[in-house]
Amino acid sequence: MKILVTGGAGFIGSHVVDAFLEAGHNVVIVDNLSTGKKENINPKAVFHKVDILNFNDLDQVFEKEKPDLVDHHAAQVDVRKSMQNPILDAEINMIGSLNLIELSKKHKVKGFIYISTGGAIYGEPKYLPVDENHQIEPLSQYGVNKHTVEHFLFINKQQGLNYIVLRYPNIYGPRQDPSGEAGVVAIFSTQMLKGSKSVIFGDGSKTRDYVYVKDVANANVLACDHINSCEAFNLGWGKEITDFEIYDQIRTALNVTAEPVYDKKRLGEVDRICLTSLKAQKTLGWQPNVELKEGIKLATEYYKTRFCV
Ligand SMILES: NC(=O)c1ccc[n+]([C@@H]2O[C@H](COP(=O)([O-])OP(=O)(O)OC[C@H]3O[C@@H](n4cnc5c(N)ncnc54)[C@H](O)[C@@H]3O)[C@@H](O)[C@H]2O)c1
Repeated sequence: MKILVTGGAGFIGSHVVDAFLEAGHNVVIVDNLSTGKKENINPKAVFHKVDILNFNDLDQVFEKEKPDLVDHHAAQVDVRKSMQNPILDAEINMIGSLNLIELSKKHKVKGFIYISTGGAIYGEPKYLPVDENHQIEPLSQYGVNKHTVEHFLFINKQQGLNYIVLRYPNIYGPRQDPSGEAGVVAIFSTQMLKGSKSVIFGDGSKTRDYVYVKDVANANVLACDHINSCEAFNLGWGKEITDFEIYDQIRTALNVTAEPVYDKKRLGEVDRICLTSLKAQKTLGWQPNVELKEGIKLATEYYKTRFCV
């Protein structure tokens, strides 16, 4: 199949591109390189430097490439920025997604894989691990906008657009940008390697569910066979890891004795979250494989090669 991956020059999208190519698909990337990088682009993929807000340029890409599937990773991914500039977040995450949905219908794309967030749509959990039936109460503009696209897809199902939604937990691994606001494995690793202090927002007890990037890339490959499901699937270990635990694991992997500093919790962030992926296991045959210790080792080795030369 020919798959158009938006955000394919970014952290997760670039691993998804690699996984699709390894599975024998042809890949076309659309990315405006706002946070993505040229060096992340797999040379076996066709690259179009196009903004998903530019409907006409996108239309030309669809016309030229005639993709079978769209896998939509491009997004404004910074929760804090979404609170500071809700309109920008809505433009990129809602209008940009609507452009892709409308063009997918116009060009008779067979299906749409949409990347949502399990970490930001459910709000403060009523129970853990959170499943797909948990109520949706996002605390951030980012969470609201990411989730709204799930409704857009539901509406468009009536007009024949098949889709699947993957709700990611916290993803980590090689190529994550340490200058982002949320990739703590990337941020802490590079800070420790440079000998600078790491800041933990809150008292270190906040929890997240960490999945290695190649595991979620594989979920996208499996999703291609279930594109008619028109349902949402959580991905995760169903296991909470505290901010301090992740810091400690990184410091152990890098063999440093640094201590973090603590600052006040940030607006729009939940205290605790982890996601059960039982539904994805049953329907997609997906489960995470790379244990945290192994994943942290792989990620820190990557940052060592980049920041210890
Ligand atoms: N990183 C995580 O832990 C996590 C968790 C849940 C969901 N997600 C979702 O996964 C996806 C990928 O996130 P990531 O962490 O790889 O971030 P990223 O910033 O590395 O990737 C986003 C990509 O989208 C591109 N992009 C942004 N705006 C664009 C636009 N207007 N037009 C075209 N391209 C544009 C960027 O250049 C970048 O390559 C996003 O949809 C995000 O919401 C990520």
